[in-house]
Amino acid sequence: MNLLLLNQFLKHHDVDGELIEVIDTLMIACKEIAVQLREGALAGVLGTTDNTNVQGETQKKMDVIANDILKNVLETNPLVRGMASEEEDDPVAANDDGRFLVTFDPLDGSSNIDINVSVGTIFSILEAPQNMSGDNVEAYLQEGRKQVAAGYVLYGPSATLVLSTGAGVNFFTLAHTGDFILTNENVQVPATTKEFAINMSNQRHWEPEMQNYVNDLLLGAEGPREKNYNMRWIASMVAEVHRVLTRGGIFMYPWDKRETGKPGKLRLMYEGNPMSMLIEQAGGLSTTCYTNIMDLKPTEIHQRCAVALGSSEEVEAVMEYHTGSKDGAAAALNS
Ligand code: AHG
Ligand code: MN
Ligand code: MN
Repeated sequence: MNLLLLNQFLKHHDVDGELIEVIDTLMIACKEIAVQLREGALAGVLGTTDNTNVQGETQKKMDVIANDILKNVLETNPLVRGMASEEEDDPVAANDDGRFLVTFDPLDGSSNIDINVSVGTIFSILEAPQNMSGDNVEAYLQEGRKQVAAGYVLYGPSATLVLSTGAGVNFFTLAHTGDFILTNENVQVPATTKEFAINMSNQRHWEPEMQNYVNDLLLGAEGPREKNYNMRWIASMVAEVHRVLTRGGIFMYPWDKRETGKPGKLRLMYEGNPMSMLIEQAGGLSTTCYTNIMDLKPTEIHQRCAVALGSSEEVEAVMEYHTGSKDGAAAALNS
C-alpha cells in the first residue's frame, strides 16, 4: 500500500503553500483534541461546566478544552489573522498580518461526549479582507462560496480528517504514528438514496412542506416515492455528514416553529457553510430547502440556518416539496 501523508498529498495537488501551513496547524490542535477524547474519563475531561455559551447552551468540559486548544495553537501561526468559534462570543484577533480567518465548531455533537459516541471538530478557512483586524465581525461575513478550505475531523472508532480545498473531497485517517494518511480519494456522494436523517421528535413543529415530505418517505414503497426508506439520527452533524459522504443519504435540520424568528438550529459560519462545501465538492447538494446554503449572505457571526444536505436527487426532491411556499416564515428566513 502506498501511504500518502496529508502534507505530501496537498503539495502534490498544488494547494497554496500558506493554506497547507494553516491546515497543518489545525491538525496539530485536532490531534491533541483526539488524545484528550481518547483518554476520556481517565483525563477527567467528561461532564459539564457551570457556563453557557453565547447561544445559551451549557458548555461541556470538552467544548471548552477543544476551543482553548484550537485557539492557542492557531494563535501561534502568523498566517492566521483571527478566528471565530461557537464557544467565543466575539471573533478573536491573532496576527495582524495574517492572511486567513478560521471559523470552527471546536466540538460538534457535544451531547454525545459523555456517552462515548462520535463527535468532531468542524472548520472553515477564509481569506482575510484587507485592512480588517481579526476581531472585526465584518471580516468574517463572507458567503460560503468564498471558503478556501473546509473540513472536519471526526473522532470516532478512528479519527478521520475530511477535507476540501476546492478540488474534491478526500479522507485522511490518523495513524498511530501521528500522521494523517490518505484513505479515500475524490469521494462522491451517490445521487440517489434510501436513507434519511432528521430529529423526528420535532415533527409537529415543522412547516407543512417538511411534514408532507417526511410523511411520503414513511409511506415507503406504497407511497408516492415508491421505495422503502431507512432512518438514522446520531445527533452529531459530523457523524451524519460522514455517513452521507460515505454511502449517500439526506441529513436535515429544518426550520421549526418553536422559535419562529430563528432560521434553524445549526450555525451557518462553522456548521452550514463548511459542511455544504464538502457535500457540493463531493457532488451532493446543500440547501435551506429554499436556497443553496453557500449563497446566503451572512449578517451575524453566530447566524443560524436550516439545513437539508446530501444525495442530489433527494435534496432536489425536498426542495420540490417546498416550492410554492415562498410566503411562509421558513421561506422568509431561509432565502
Ligand atoms: P453542537 O454540539 O456543536 O452544539 O452541535 C450539535 C448539533 C448537531 O451536531 C446535531 O445534528 C444537532 O445539534 C442535534 O440536535 P438535537 O439534539 O436537537 O437532535
Ligand atoms: Mn455543532
Ligand atoms: Mn459545538
